Amino acid sequence: MSTTSDSILGAATPRIDGPSKTSGIAQYAADFHFDNMAHAVPVGATIASGRIRRLDTSAAEQLPGVLLVLHHANIGPLYRTVPGDDNATNSEVRSAFEDDVIRHWGQHVAVVIAETLEQATAAAAAVKVDYEPEAANLRTGLDDYTGARKSVSKRGDPDAAFASAPVKLDQTYITPSETHNPIELHASVAAWDGDRVTLYETSQGVVNHRLVMAQVLGLPVENVRVVTRFLGSGFGGKLFPWPHTAMAAVAARKLNRPVKLSLNRRMMFSTVGYRPRTEQRIKLGATKEGKLLALRHDYLNVTSQLDDFNEGCGEATPYLYSVANLEVTGAVVHRNVGAPMWMRGPGAVPGLYALEAGMNELAEQLSIDPLQLRLMNDADKDEANNNIPFSSRHFKECFQVGAKKFGWEKRTPAIGSMRRDGKILGWGLAGASWVALRLPCTASVEFCANSRLCVRCGTQDIGTGTYTVFAQVLSHKTGIPLDRIDVILGDSALPDGPMSGGSMVTGSVLNAIAAGADGAIQKLQKLAAATDGSPYFNAKVEDVSFTQGRIHGKNQSPENGMQFADLLKMARLNGISAEGKTQPTWEDPKAKGVSLHSYGAQFVEVEWEPEIARLRVSRVVTVIDAGRIINPKAAANQIEGAVVMGVGMGLLEETIRDMRTGQPINGSMADYLMATCADLPDIDVTFLDYPDPAMGEFGARGVGEIGLAGVAPAITAAVYHATGVRVRELPVRIEHLLQSKVVEV
Ligand code: MOS
Repeated sequence: MSTTSDSILGAATPRIDGPSKTSGIAQYAADFHFDNMAHAVPVGATIASGRIRRLDTSAAEQLPGVLLVLHHANIGPLYRTVPGDDNATNSEVRSAFEDDVIRHWGQHVAVVIAETLEQATAAAAAVKVDYEPEAANLRTGLDDYTGARKSVSKRGDPDAAFASAPVKLDQTYITPSETHNPIELHASVAAWDGDRVTLYETSQGVVNHRLVMAQVLGLPVENVRVVTRFLGSGFGGKLFPWPHTAMAAVAARKLNRPVKLSLNRRMMFSTVGYRPRTEQRIKLGATKEGKLLALRHDYLNVTSQLDDFNEGCGEATPYLYSVANLEVTGAVVHRNVGAPMWMRGPGAVPGLYALEAGMNELAEQLSIDPLQLRLMNDADKDEANNNIPFSSRHFKECFQVGAKKFGWEKRTPAIGSMRRDGKILGWGLAGASWVALRLPCTASVEFCANSRLCVRCGTQDIGTGTYTVFAQVLSHKTGIPLDRIDVILGDSALPDGPMSGGSMVTGSVLNAIAAGADGAIQKLQKLAAATDGSPYFNAKVEDVSFTQGRIHGKNQSPENGMQFADLLKMARLNGISAEGKTQPTWEDPKAKGVSLHSYGAQFVEVEWEPEIARLRVSRVVTVIDAGRIINPKAAANQIEGAVVMGVGMGLLEETIRDMRTGQPINGSMADYLMATCADLPDIDVTFLDYPDPAMGEFGARGVGEIGLAGVAPAITAAVYHATGVRVRELPVRIEHLLQSKVVEV
């Protein structure tokens, strides 16, 4: 039926939206301007716990340009979302200004709307709030958790097996709170038309955002539209709506004017989520030869007062290695902090830091190469899930390929034993994994009389190359070149598409686009046979073919056929379209019975200069098994970015709070340390590129998050190898390194 050209799939295709971004045409949420638009600036609480005694807005209201000050006493009804509704997931349980209780520093207590941003900013500073403070719980230690630990996964008798194991490891690993720092700030522009509202948003999921906002604002869902044409990333912080969206929407309704609310960077550290602090105890029992006998992973994570946010640190632990006796448990610990939110590789990234750091320490105890320890404990079936087969697992090969590229066999295990150019080298490795799923998706494909091909889907491009992947698949299916393909995303009015989350968009959208293209081609073929004047009028539909944009007879060469646009014109049609759907993996018999994950291996080299206590990550080799890679350029870019973030996680990133007020004291781009160009190692990315049959026709699993997994434990292993200092609390600091006894000779 349709002829396909394979070259575009798997081709390193530059982003089709690149020119619109570099030229400034691309409209991000805060770029939307409307006539008569007002500006909103929130006021944040300056205590971590207590109550508002008095909120005095009189001075603020006297200032020039001020239109309105909203707070808990006058915002009017806002609603919570239905608990457990997976289609309408909110970030926080509590709605904006729901009560006068303060539960964390920075909690919105008021919002000022004025003619200009400057006027609103000045007036926000003039809002006076008297608090009745209460003792805040900001403890960093998490041993005081309340409520039951939940058993996440269990098999065998891990405690008995650990007790009798000849070799034992029992260590606790800590990851700090980290803050999402996308370049683009969170913003919401609300514009009402009667009882309908359009929200121009920084959203990683316009469809979910619309459903949530309909519930929160108490509107019929058809009265809400959410638009996110471009995102300056999100890292998970923009998955679900935050309270400022409702604040902007209510203000715009009350004023009957469009309202723009953009958070500033400091607000981004306290009102829109973060990766919560975790404490993870790992127990490993093994034979003297290194075969795992017992694995216990007990984690705790911080959450806010009202939200039971579970970081899910045990996500990858149950299936990664073969071990007969295992248990993973988790519990949450409430603090006076804002709601946490998923951050790139949530659960698995902090969880694998602990597990893989434990595996590296166990290897040392056993005097076994850490690479060998991984290879000898590889799992060939999912022992956590009724021993079902893996859909496509090449974890061992990731390590083997990576070891070769890195030169692992040249490693000498003694601490401080490797030197280069007067520097001490440390080498470490760790494994990576991430879940794979296909989410439901609908895409509509249209052939247009202007010779262009259009695809529409209510998903969005978080910056990873989603626009480009859509165009690639459509070009692959139709033979139409990329410059004649329009991709329309980022609008909840489009057919329902998936969230840009969980590294799931690519794997989820491909089948829907392909099915939509097939359907639209069939309609063209039928049209050719039904259009009077067409050379195929009254032909059997199966005798009409479609190749590279041309309709032609089955036995006729495509060059002698007609362009689809000419057929549409002949039939007096502007366009012809069809919808295609992706069946989610959990409904697909081919995917239901297999265990779906991506895998990877990280090899890290650090350089240590003890004379000046300077440590840098100099080299990272990363090998990723993420199914078939649709766009190696965009995919490598994702992994490189994730590795850079991993350097930050290992050495730099931590949100530090003032223990009296809960204020993030390093809540700015100047003070919150992230890896920048000067910190970059040489990064070598390899994809194994095995299509995963359970993911459907294209076999792609997605690569947004897995590149971050395993980097931090490989760094701490390399740090130990170079310096002899075992760091079990991230990030590695100079205070840790100064304990090193390794000196230059
Ligand atoms: Mo990702 S943390 O699911 O945006």
